Amino acid sequence: MSIRSDHPLLQRIVDDLADVGWSHQRIFLPDDLTHELAQECRRRSDNGLLAPAAIGRGEAQVIREGVRGDHIAWLEGDETEPALTRYLDLMDALRLAFNQGLFLGLEDYESHFALYPPGAFYATHVDRFRDDDRRVISLVLYLNDVWLPEHGGALRLHLPNGEKRDVLPTGGSLVCFMSGEMPHEVLPATRERMSLTGWFRRRGENVLENVL
Ligand code: OGA
Ligand code: MN
Repeated sequence: MSIRSDHPLLQRIVDDLADVGWSHQRIFLPDDLTHELAQECRRRSDNGLLAPAAIGRGEAQVIREGVRGDHIAWLEGDETEPALTRYLDLMDALRLAFNQGLFLGLEDYESHFALYPPGAFYATHVDRFRDDDRRVISLVLYLNDVWLPEHGGALRLHLPNGEKRDVLPTGGSLVCFMSGEMPHEVLPATRERMSLTGWFRRRGENVLENVL
């Protein structure tokens, strides 16, 4: 059974984004779903399906481990694994909740698994490209077992008021924020760090891009 877009948990996230531009839910995914998604990430990794992540867009993409050291696998939209279908249904309910509550006109969702080997990090950045502003909301779901502060690997948000917030990548938790307005970084961890990261996007201004 799928979740409705007026579920209180989703409404709370929408309210947080409207109030402060970000939201952190320590308990978001049911444990069994977190576990199955983690297994799927592990399976893709074991089968060599995760590739070093690039920076930039289109032909300007480059791989720079000094900026970003994670390995990723994009979801292609043809996923049939029940856990991925459940995850995508849940994210679609959240997309609708944002559209109903904040009139954001979010049209689609792109996402990838990410695995950071021990020591890998992602330097401070924003999730919007200079030549493409379709990404509106960034969402990160963590797939790790119990995570302790001494493991490192926090997501550090640089809030608009100059404060910093560190979020531990504990399994089943969700963090989301406005893609264009929140510089953030991933600190190195002492152990492997897995996540499913995605973006709600609006329609682009470039008409040709929408039909081609
Ligand atoms: C990203 C990113 C944050 C995280 O993939 O753009 O910032 O906590 N990820 O994994
Ligand atoms: Mn990011």
